[in-house]
Amino acid sequence: MVRKIKDIRPIELKDYKLYVINQLKLPLEEQWLELSTYGDVAKAIKDMIIRGAPLIGIVGAYGFAIGIKQLIDEGKPLDEAEKVLETLKNTRPTAVNLFWALDRMWKKFEKWKNEKSPDELIKALFKEANRIDLEDYHANKSIGGYGQVLIPEKANVLTHCNTGALATSGWGTALGVIRSAYEDGKDITVYVDETRPYLQGARLTAWELVQEGIPHYLITDNSAGFLISKGLIDVIIVGADRITANGDVANKIGTFTLSVLAKEFNIPFYVAAPTTTFDLNTESGKDIPIEVRNEKEIKECGSCKIAPEETKALNYSFDITPAENISGIITEKGIINEINKESIMKFLKYRGI
Ligand code: MRU
Repeated sequence: MVRKIKDIRPIELKDYKLYVINQLKLPLEEQWLELSTYGDVAKAIKDMIIRGAPLIGIVGAYGFAIGIKQLIDEGKPLDEAEKVLETLKNTRPTAVNLFWALDRMWKKFEKWKNEKSPDELIKALFKEANRIDLEDYHANKSIGGYGQVLIPEKANVLTHCNTGALATSGWGTALGVIRSAYEDGKDITVYVDETRPYLQGARLTAWELVQEGIPHYLITDNSAGFLISKGLIDVIIVGADRITANGDVANKIGTFTLSVLAKEFNIPFYVAAPTTTFDLNTESGKDIPIEVRNEKEIKECGSCKIAPEETKALNYSFDITPAENISGIITEKGIINEINKESIMKFLKYRGI
């Protein structure tokens, strides 16, 4: 049986303005926001109105195009492009996709700024951002195709954070694999970690799974160990914000704990990510900048205070899963089964990356 799954697009470009679903409002309200300046875009990334490594990259690329158009419209010198670039880069530090996408936009800008008229430059930059967007969608579908082979015909799959349409151009990485497997007719139940404190699992992944009609249970982050120990989970699949040369993975806080549990109970632990998430210039996970967010995100839930004012909270947003805890990395070019520097380099080089 093949099922048809509804497509969800988290962003829309219209008349050189970017429209995004406000992910802070989900699942209670589907509110679309207009981002018409690069400052709006930077704020949307920083405040997590949009989030997820691939989507941050895509939105950053559109933000750069919007910024250059703004400079031209306001009659400002193109020398100020560097300020646009830096503002967008200084939003979130961990997901490498943002820096990858902005570097790609910057190189095109440097090449085209003296070759093209202002109008042509604007069009070309928006087209490049759109290319990054479309490439991500195709990469996601391909990750889904490769990855779903790893999911048994009948499976309980545990996932963390949100790695679906809302975190990407519209299909998803880890959740994309689950969608692809479900679309292919597999009998899947998803166990969704709520993912404190931003609740990407409870608010976003669960919302997506409802839209798609995929059976799921929402679980508290701290129940994963119990469920795994009872044999209730067949496979864990997560996304990534950055994968270093040796195969260490930065992902949403709590991912590392799941990898330890998977190892202890001998169940597969897969990472799904496009090759744009690899950072081969960084040797290992200990060199990845880990974002620390405001303690309010832990001490408050919505508008409700849930901890004493005097208590200090520590809000690391990501953790590092060591390469040896990972059973495989699913990319749009295929699956890396042996996670070490040599096999990663060979895999990427052989595929022209
Ligand atoms: O803080 P977020 O919501 O941007 O973190 C997102 C994650 O950690 C995801 O798991 C990761 O970016 C992969 S998204 C396809």
